[in-house]
Amino acid sequence: MIQVAVMGHGVVGSGVVEVLENHRDSIAKRAKEEINIKYILDIREFPDSPYAQKFTKNFEDILNDEEVRVVAEVMGGVNPAYDFTKRCLEAGKSVVTSNKELVATKGAELLEIARNNNVNYLFEASVGGGIPIIRPINQCLAANEFVEIAGILNGTTNFILTKMIKDNMSFEDALRMAQQLGYAERKPEADVEGHDACRKIAILASLCYGKHIYPELVHTQGITKITLDDVAYAGAWGGVIKLIGQVMKLDDGRVDISVEPMILSRESQLANVDDVFNGILVRGDATGDVVFYGKGAGKLPTASAVVADIIDCVRNLKTRKFVYWEDGDASLVRPYEESAFPVMIRAKAEDKAAALKKAEELFGNVKAVSRSDEKEGEFAFTTGDIAVTSADAAVAELEKAGVTVLSKIRISDL
Ligand code: HSE
Repeated sequence: MIQVAVMGHGVVGSGVVEVLENHRDSIAKRAKEEINIKYILDIREFPDSPYAQKFTKNFEDILNDEEVRVVAEVMGGVNPAYDFTKRCLEAGKSVVTSNKELVATKGAELLEIARNNNVNYLFEASVGGGIPIIRPINQCLAANEFVEIAGILNGTTNFILTKMIKDNMSFEDALRMAQQLGYAERKPEADVEGHDACRKIAILASLCYGKHIYPELVHTQGITKITLDDVAYAGAWGGVIKLIGQVMKLDDGRVDISVEPMILSRESQLANVDDVFNGILVRGDATGDVVFYGKGAGKLPTASAVVADIIDCVRNLKTRKFVYWEDGDASLVRPYEESAFPVMIRAKAEDKAAALKKAEELFGNVKAVSRSDEKEGEFAFTTGDIAVTSADAAVAELEKAGVTVLSKIRISDL
C-alpha cells in the first residue's frame, strides 16, 4: 500500500480526497497498488469530516513520515506551497499539483529539484482543469514542433463574455452572476485581469519550448474594458470576443506570447467554446490542429487530473517521468510592441466620414463596420496587419484630429 498526503482541503483538495476514496478499488487496479491517504494538511478544523482523524496542521508530520511517497499540493498560491513542495521533493517524495501560480513562477527550479532527487513533479491539473493537456503535449504530441498554442484558458472570463454575447448582459452584471454561481472569486482580479490565463499559457509555452517563460514576460490584458458596444461591433463583423492566451514560435527562435481579448470569426474552432468551458488549440507541424475541450475548473474535474498524476507517480516510484524545462529569460520573448496583427477600432467623432478618411490615411486600408442601433457619432473599422507601436501611434494621431478612440481589439486569425 502506498501512503499519500493531500496538502490543502479547499475545493480541489476535498475533491481529491473524494475521488481517491470513492474510486479506491479502480484506482488501485490502475496504479497496481492500493493508495491510502495518510494525512490531510489544513490549518482549519474539519471535526465533522469522515476523514477527521487524517487531518494535521503540521507540515512536518508529512515531511518526516518516510511512508509518505506522494504528496498532492492543492493549497494554491506561492507561499507556503513553494517551501512545502521544495522540501517534499528534497525529501524524496513526488509532488503533484493544481497550483498554476507556483508552476508558472517556480516551475524550472522545482523540476530541477525533482530531477536531482529522482522524483516526479507533475501538474496536469494546473492548466485546463480536467482537460488532459500537459501529458498530450509532453507525450502524445512530442514528435511535433509546436507552431502555435491558443486557448480559452479561463472559465470565469469565458462565462462573463458568453453572458455579454448571448444575453446582452453588462460586464458588471455578468461578473456578479459568476460570483453568485461560485465561478468568480469575491476578489476577481486574477481572472478578469487575465493573470490566471497568463500563468496557464506561460506553463504551456515553457513545456512546449523547453525553457521557462515567466508570467511577467507575457503581455497580459483582461476583459474589464470590454463593453456591450464592442461585443455588438464584433458581432456585426461576424465574430465573438474571447479572452485568448496564445503563444507562437517565431523563425528567429523567440516566441510571441500574449493574453488579451481577441475577436474570433464565428467559424473559428474556439468561437463556440462557451460558458465556463475551456478550449485549447495545439497546432503541431505534423498533426495540424488538435483541439482540447472540457471543464477547465471545478472540484471534481480538477481533482480528476490531480488523482491521475498521483496514480502516475505511484506507477513510477522508481522512475522519472520526463517533464522538464530549463530556466529562461526575457530574450526568449519578442516584445509585444513588435507584434503585428489586424485590429478593430471603435471610435466617436462629429464627422464620421471625415474621421474614417483620416483613419484610412493613418492605418492604410481600413474597412468600416456598422451595426444596427449605432450610437450618435459612433463608428468602427478594421485594419490590416499593423505593428502594435504603429497602431498606437496612429490612434494618437487620430485623437489629435478630434476623434475619440473608445476601444482597440485584436482580430485573431484562429
Ligand atoms: N479561476 C479559474 C478559472 C479556475 O476561472 O478558469 C481554474 O484555474
